[in-house]
Amino acid sequence: MESSLALGRLELTNSSAAVGVSLTPQLSGGPSAIEKYGQRPQGQAHLNGCVPLSHQVAGHKYGVDKVGILQHPDGTVLKQLQPPPRGPREMQFYSMVYAEDCCDPCFLELKNHVPKYYGIWSSPDNPHDLYLKMEDVTRRFIKPCIMDVKLGQQSYNPFASQEKREQQIRKYPLMEEIGFLVLGMRVYKLCTDTFETYDQHYGRRLVKDTIKDGLAKFFYNGVSLRKDAVSASIFRVRRILRWFESQQQLTFYASSLLFVYEGLPSCSSSPPLSSLFKKEVEYNNNSIQVSVPWGCSLTSIYTNHTEGGHCGKGHLHGNSVDAETKLKGYVVDEAEGWRSEPEVEVRMIDFAHVFASESHDHGYIYGLKHLLMVLEQILCEAA
Ligand SMILES: Nc1ncnc2c1ncn2[C@@H]1O[C@H](COP(=O)(O)OP(=O)(O)O)[C@@H](O)[C@H]1O
Ligand SMILES: [Mg+2]
Repeated sequence: MESSLALGRLELTNSSAAVGVSLTPQLSGGPSAIEKYGQRPQGQAHLNGCVPLSHQVAGHKYGVDKVGILQHPDGTVLKQLQPPPRGPREMQFYSMVYAEDCCDPCFLELKNHVPKYYGIWSSPDNPHDLYLKMEDVTRRFIKPCIMDVKLGQQSYNPFASQEKREQQIRKYPLMEEIGFLVLGMRVYKLCTDTFETYDQHYGRRLVKDTIKDGLAKFFYNGVSLRKDAVSASIFRVRRILRWFESQQQLTFYASSLLFVYEGLPSCSSSPPLSSLFKKEVEYNNNSIQVSVPWGCSLTSIYTNHTEGGHCGKGHLHGNSVDAETKLKGYVVDEAEGWRSEPEVEVRMIDFAHVFASESHDHGYIYGLKHLLMVLEQILCEAA
């Protein structure tokens, strides 16, 4: 009942990403998972070179839970389909938003706020084990600081059993009042060049009086508060809020916002090339992708990078770079020279409990507004 009611409306929508259809683009140039993360976690390859997502901060973990998230060698993320109705519901959500013939402005705008979706993936060895293949939104960062925040005033969907409701409320009784919950994070510490991680228990301990400081920890690198990352996050969250205020078609339960910012400090004018391009460029802490010769011009770096067969033309790390070259969290503008732009991603993820609706998603909007208020307070007090 839950599944058909939930998907009733979605099923009417033409899906271009049916099972077996892969929309995978050529993500050439991306480091392999092994290059990127160094040693294979647990020293094992899983499913055709896929490995558990090493920088996952929350949710079901591969090898720990029944389902989990993998990193494909091409740099994409594979989210294993959860048992029905959750998995098929999430698949329907992505299929609907990414339907080729979709022209609904609501969904077209939504694409800006969710990871790119490349269809359903399965390993030839195990064709019935299905995965959602999507963009790794942390991919372009070298030292990605990542936070997963669950949004909304209730974590259970309207069809949940009494037992499920009670279980969810017990986990965080303040959900209704606070409207969001930190599920996990990892924060880069400048001095030690290490990541500090926080699990779900950290967020559950946060109450009204401590939520601001608890959230601020995500932006503290051990030396200073990354105000640039706070304000860029505010900017992104405001855009998502505008989308929610403009749509009355979908309601999200137990869905998250994934925050990512570059842990390496930004620079205001001309960073020395040496600080930006080591002989071997690292990704996400320990990968090796391209060799950049010392002292070569930005143009030649770009040209080498694209013509060397690592990247598709006009694309670097999966992003369009027609006018600008984005590298290592900085924006390179050939006309203006170096320009500092805090690189922040805030994306909606986890759509196992998305339902058709005919009104605004008040719970999610409430959470977004409170989250914005807290972020603004953090910024204000740091000024
Ligand atoms: N597209 C993505 N890019 C990068 N990391 C992701 C992506 N999707 C999920 N993750 C990581 O996996 C975690 C769990 O993802 P989620 O979709 O919420 O799974 P679950 O349903 O198990 O909660 C997130 O907290 C994040 O760390
Ligand atoms: Mg989740």
